[in-house]
Amino acid sequence: MRIEGNTFIVAGGGSGLGAAVARRLVAEGGRVVIADIAASGAALAETLGPRACFHRTDVTDEAAAAGAVALAGAQPGPLRGLINCAGICPAEKVVGRDGPHRLDSFARVVGINLIGSFNMMRLAAAAIAEQPAEADGERGVIVNTASIAASDGQIGQTAYAASKAGVIGLTLPAARELARFGIRVMSVAPGIFATPMVEAMPEAVQQSLAAQPPFPRRLGQPDEFAELCHAIIVNPMLNGTTIRLDGAVRMGGT
Ligand SMILES: NC(=O)c1ccc[n+]([C@@H]2O[C@H](COP(=O)([O-])OP(=O)(O)OC[C@H]3O[C@@H](n4cnc5c(N)ncnc54)[C@H](O)[C@@H]3O)[C@@H](O)[C@H]2O)c1
Repeated sequence: MRIEGNTFIVAGGGSGLGAAVARRLVAEGGRVVIADIAASGAALAETLGPRACFHRTDVTDEAAAAGAVALAGAQPGPLRGLINCAGICPAEKVVGRDGPHRLDSFARVVGINLIGSFNMMRLAAAAIAEQPAEADGERGVIVNTASIAASDGQIGQTAYAASKAGVIGLTLPAARELARFGIRVMSVAPGIFATPMVEAMPEAVQQSLAAQPPFPRRLGQPDEFAELCHAIIVNPMLNGTTIRLDGAVRMGGT
């Protein structure tokens, strides 16, 4: 799928990995609708210029998500893609000092990371399916953000790991279903990236995380995530699977 002249929604594009993707898509000549719950998305759209706009969107909200898709559909270039980057990563133990894991906090993580991604995907896919196909029959591409926590989840990550395993789980069936419209579905499972999500952790934790990947022995950069999203968008054979982007890290645990 070409990027130039086409429109893409970046959910969670106001920060971190999503912001890097939005920047990259605009740099490649695409248009982006940044759909984020935070106002940082509006500031980024402003700096990216006329081919970027912002729609305040809670990805769990049906009407807000539909509004973001409608705004994308109103852009001059056809809607060809969704990059799902909105997510949260709070830590809580199954049984912690204050008692059992709160059920509402577990549901909130799954609600944003998994159900929110699906909410955006179903609405964006319906709109992309209405677009004329390119010469090879392709209409668009959806990229979801999972995490290596789906398989290497750490203490305190039951909700997060479960939500990301759900994202990986829906990738193949969604790709199979949407194939008839010429829409591909991929997921990326990042290792540990230098974004506000990780920078909010204590310095010692960040240093220990950065030392984990065999090579390169450092945190991933958001631009490296955007680079993979670019490769997925432009390569029509990438479909129905999850790519780990992690410098060979396999998180241990006790
Ligand atoms: N940074 C990492 O190491 C890492 C690793 C693996 C996976 N991920 C995943 O990558 C994605 C992006 O994470 P990041 O590191 O860039 O974090 P980030 O906190 O920098 O960005 C997340 C963005 O999602 C937005 N968001 C949160 N809840 C939302 C909601 N309900 N509706 C709309 N937007 C919402 C935030 O406002 C923010 O702009 C997340 O899904 C995260 O789980 C990150």
